[in-house]
Amino acid sequence: MIIAIDGPAASGKGTIARRLAAHFGLPHLDTGLIYRATARTVLDWGDRLDDIQRAVAAARGLALTDFDEERLRGAQMGEAASVVAAMPQVRAELIDLQKRFAARPGGAVLDGRDIGTVVCPQADVKIFVTASPEVRAQRRALELHGRGERTAYEDVLADIRRRDERDSHRSTAPLKQAADAVLLDTSDLDIEGAFAAARAIVEERRALAK
Ligand code: DC
Repeated sequence: MIIAIDGPAASGKGTIARRLAAHFGLPHLDTGLIYRATARTVLDWGDRLDDIQRAVAAARGLALTDFDEERLRGAQMGEAASVVAAMPQVRAELIDLQKRFAARPGGAVLDGRDIGTVVCPQADVKIFVTASPEVRAQRRALELHGRGERTAYEDVLADIRRRDERDSHRSTAPLKQAADAVLLDTSDLDIEGAFAAARAIVEERRALAK
């Protein structure tokens, strides 16, 4: 079973994907980390983020074992990832890696922006997770504070709006709900509520497929 989870930053998609993977015994890939690792490599090389050739080279050299999540999860790296992710050449470099992960025997859970639309259009279950920008900014600010990053709520909200705009309006694989995805709005749900709703969607789809 392939489960595709898409949605904007801090919608809860990562937590939902992780919990679903644990519940159904499937491997999980957070595809945002791939774009974050690409951006991190470009910056570590001392190159500019808008240097397409260097970004493509960084993407080409990437392996799924490269991810130092602690270094990649910060707010700045989310913004940097969104910049390299808008380059069609970078996305083309990274698609096979993601498709191979999804093709594992038994299936997988992938979360990102274009999983249901581009990476796994054949997914058995697609969920588009969303929440209001204000709720997402509150969650992200709390998370960043927990990591010791003191970022003002207004700055987090501005970052979220900027990323939504860039991720939704880029030319290749923009963030959008697949026609056959189920919409899950987590604005008024806590983690347990969001996970329970997502699990119910998966179970319903599985029952229909039988
Ligand atoms: O999910 P995240 O916040 O870690 O993602 C960081 C950025 O990476 C996001 O702003 C856009 C990009 N991204 C993407 O374009 N496609 C994906 N499948 C996942 C992430």
